Amino acid sequence: MTIKSVPINTVTPEPVQRFWRLDERLEAVLALVHTGIHADIGSDHAKLPLRLIQSGRARRCIVVELNPGPLALARRNVARAGLTDHIEIRAGDGFAPLHPAEADSASITGMGAGTIAGILRRAQVGVLPPTLVLQPNDNPAPIRVWAQESGYHLTDERLIDGYWPYPVLRLVRQSGPDPAYSGLPLAAALRYGPHLLREAGPLLAARIRADVLRLTPLAAPGRTAQLELNAAQDALKVIEP
Ligand SMILES: C[S@@+](CC[C@H](N)C(=O)[O-])C[C@H]1O[C@@H](n2cnc3c(N)ncnc32)[C@H](O)[C@@H]1O
Repeated sequence: MTIKSVPINTVTPEPVQRFWRLDERLEAVLALVHTGIHADIGSDHAKLPLRLIQSGRARRCIVVELNPGPLALARRNVARAGLTDHIEIRAGDGFAPLHPAEADSASITGMGAGTIAGILRRAQVGVLPPTLVLQPNDNPAPIRVWAQESGYHLTDERLIDGYWPYPVLRLVRQSGPDPAYSGLPLAAALRYGPHLLREAGPLLAARIRADVLRLTPLAAPGRTAQLELNAAQDALKVIEP
């Protein structure tokens, strides 16, 4: 009996047209990117870059991953989609694997806001692209503070319904004070988002009311909860004038 040798670890390319399903938060991120070269930091499965290329919203993508498991998954998915010519995968921490001015835009999604702000703060001079789309899993205030200190304006914000409300922020490098905050109470705008406050959608309104209820029994002069309650009450005045 002859036994055919079967190569192991070969990847069968799939048609490029295969539809990579994104959840609603990543669909929202996708809709805010339209670019030449896009870097997705902490990509894991690489679904966002795959859809960016397939939908023509990016010409080329760079995937950056810190951990070996997600790195292997990204390599596998990109190879199966037949998109290795369009999506390059690099191992590393945050923006460290990127060269200065290499990317036109970048995304960081599915992490805590403090982690995302830390990755942005650690980026070497000149490496951060002019457009950033960020989707933290919690209160995005550290990212909004970083943007104010670092010359990025908040040009778009979304709040996406999901396991919990997912904020999505689009930042563009621009000089001068960010006009998005003008006329708004600053602590409330940093906590809840200037565009989201002006929009006054039901998801944000529910969140602010829940914060007021939660913080009222905890608040006392000198406590952090008092400052947070003040911000929530100021936010309520903006959305319910
Ligand atoms: C929770 S997953 C989110 C995956 C994907 N971005 C999403 O939104 O579905 C976070 C990923 O970021 C990677 N990661 C965490 N810190 C990183 C860093 N400093 N640099 C690169 N990747 C990082 C983790 O290995 C993990 O794969």
